[in-house]
Amino acid sequence: MDHRIRSLSEFSQTYEKSVENPEAFWEDIANSFRWRKKWDKVLKWDFKGPDVKWFINGKLNITENILDRHLETRGDQTAILWEPNDPDEQYQKISYKELYEKVCQFSNAMKANGIGRGDRVIIYMPMVPEAAVAMLACARIGAVHSVVFAGFSANALADRINDCEAKMVLTSDGNFRGAKTIEVKSVVDEALEKSSTVEKVIVFQRTKTPVTMKDGRDIWWHEAIDGVSLENEAEEMDSEDLLFILYTSGSTGKPKGVVHTCGGYMVYTYYSFLNVFQYDEGDIYWCTADVGWITGHSYIVYGPLLAGATTMMFEGVPTYPDAGRFWHACDKHKVNQFYTAPTAIRALEAHGLEPLEPYKLDSLKVIGSVGEPINEEAWHWYHLNVGKGNCPLVDTWWQTETGGIMISALAGITPVKPAHASLPLPGIQPIIVDREGKELTGRNIQGNLCVKFPWPSILRTTYGDHERCRQTYFSAYENLYFTGDGAKRDHDGYLRILGRVDDVINVSGHRMGTAEVENAIDEHPKVIESAVVGYPHDIKGQGIYAFVIAEGEGIEEEVRKTITELIGPIAKPDKIQLVKGLPKTRSGKIMRRILRKIASGEVADLGDTSTLLNPEIVEDIKSGKV
Ligand code: WTA
Repeated sequence: MDHRIRSLSEFSQTYEKSVENPEAFWEDIANSFRWRKKWDKVLKWDFKGPDVKWFINGKLNITENILDRHLETRGDQTAILWEPNDPDEQYQKISYKELYEKVCQFSNAMKANGIGRGDRVIIYMPMVPEAAVAMLACARIGAVHSVVFAGFSANALADRINDCEAKMVLTSDGNFRGAKTIEVKSVVDEALEKSSTVEKVIVFQRTKTPVTMKDGRDIWWHEAIDGVSLENEAEEMDSEDLLFILYTSGSTGKPKGVVHTCGGYMVYTYYSFLNVFQYDEGDIYWCTADVGWITGHSYIVYGPLLAGATTMMFEGVPTYPDAGRFWHACDKHKVNQFYTAPTAIRALEAHGLEPLEPYKLDSLKVIGSVGEPINEEAWHWYHLNVGKGNCPLVDTWWQTETGGIMISALAGITPVKPAHASLPLPGIQPIIVDREGKELTGRNIQGNLCVKFPWPSILRTTYGDHERCRQTYFSAYENLYFTGDGAKRDHDGYLRILGRVDDVINVSGHRMGTAEVENAIDEHPKVIESAVVGYPHDIKGQGIYAFVIAEGEGIEEEVRKTITELIGPIAKPDKIQLVKGLPKTRSGKIMRRILRKIASGEVADLGDTSTLLNPEIVEDIKSGKV
């Protein structure tokens, strides 16, 4: 059965049907999968708990739908096309049959090393096919994977290992990133000094960087699979069993573990992939994200493979060996759908058109954008120079918590408009509300973006702390899922995402909680207090601006080092300003509104500062702006 919508009228009809009878709509899509046992009931939900369950009592294994199901029809077709960091190294094509064998074999190897149903496994790996094999092997044996982006520091990794009490870590000796070789295993070693739950570490050899292997704990990947069977009977999972945990930053405290479950995530990633990208049989699809982020989970691994697609995985960076690398790889592999982030587009735009000149890019049919609002200028540059003016550009809005794309054009089917994510996918019911939670209907309105009805891949909880999930997403407005984003509905009825309305900054498409960065800065022994805000940045979308009260002078570099150690280089502030004080209300709360304006250079209009406890500090900070 094909669930691809193929015309505008079909889109409108499908949308209407999906709202009239959501259960029937999703059931029809779920029916196209292989279930060991069908569900008793499609949906049970209550946003107060929250308590959302899809395909209740259904039994399945997601990897049977990715691997076993495709063996008969597309065993020899390429599942994963891997382009290495160095363009001169041989690329790899892994067929569905080979992927099946690799996953089964690694599943057996993990089991032999003590991993079973329900155990948590951390994946801290470079962009090699084995990272996808690792995820799928976990899913096959019922273990819960939690991929941690390999740019996070040992401390950040240890926090995540400890939070989910992981029993195993899958990693590599090192990681090639552009001209650099990054040590990976040594970061894991350091993290494991701070955690006690991990029993085994399996190390994939990628860079031949020398590493220390701890006796009884560390095993080489190639030794772990040596002589191991290529067959493995998949574990029977309940639809609502955990598939994975993915940590993401919020506006308070430490990152939280967003939980996705087997059945609903399977149905939604498949459906959204097929429709947004309008994938045709035989197409080569490339998403440039890292598997450490949700985009890599849903649209490099699960969605495309569930749809039987050829998904390309890229190990390197857009500027290595030069700023034409993306375009070189598109031509080399005749890529048909290309999905990247606005920050990459803006960074490449800064190199001008020359790096594009040697390439035809004539295989491209669809181009996409994700992770942050794409500004009009970047939209046009991408559309004209990469899409040659004739590829639909899908601006896809979604979140780690939503599991899949929620608001986006369907390529070539629904109209696009620069900088607008446009319309919700059938099955998705977003609304815009005012501060009090009143729905703003009609056009030319703006407010906070919520969703009023569940969809199959909505987060189920935050790992180990359900109350935090309720507080963060379901308490702002009664009976609504609150996204944390602001949005506008324009005169044509199109949605435009305006960015975060909470204390989360979006740096190069990566979510960073201001509180998390502040906590890291405050760890520096000379720091007394700090306040972090976002400000507009030409390439990154938003930059990090830190106002820091410290003893002594010239500690900016040390502060950057502390942040790199505690979180990772992605959290390093672009600007640090040492200040004598921070603007505070009489109750002692930092007035971030004022700091945001100063950081953005909007100093002429700071609003009313007379209610501050220390209004004089504002002038001081203004005059010292970095
Ligand atoms: C932002 C990434 C505007 C938004 C898939 C959201 C976007 C956060 C878009 C989620 C877009 C993502 N237009 N903003 N097309 N896509 N965002 O969890 O603020 O890493 O809340 O998921 O990124 O980031 P996350």
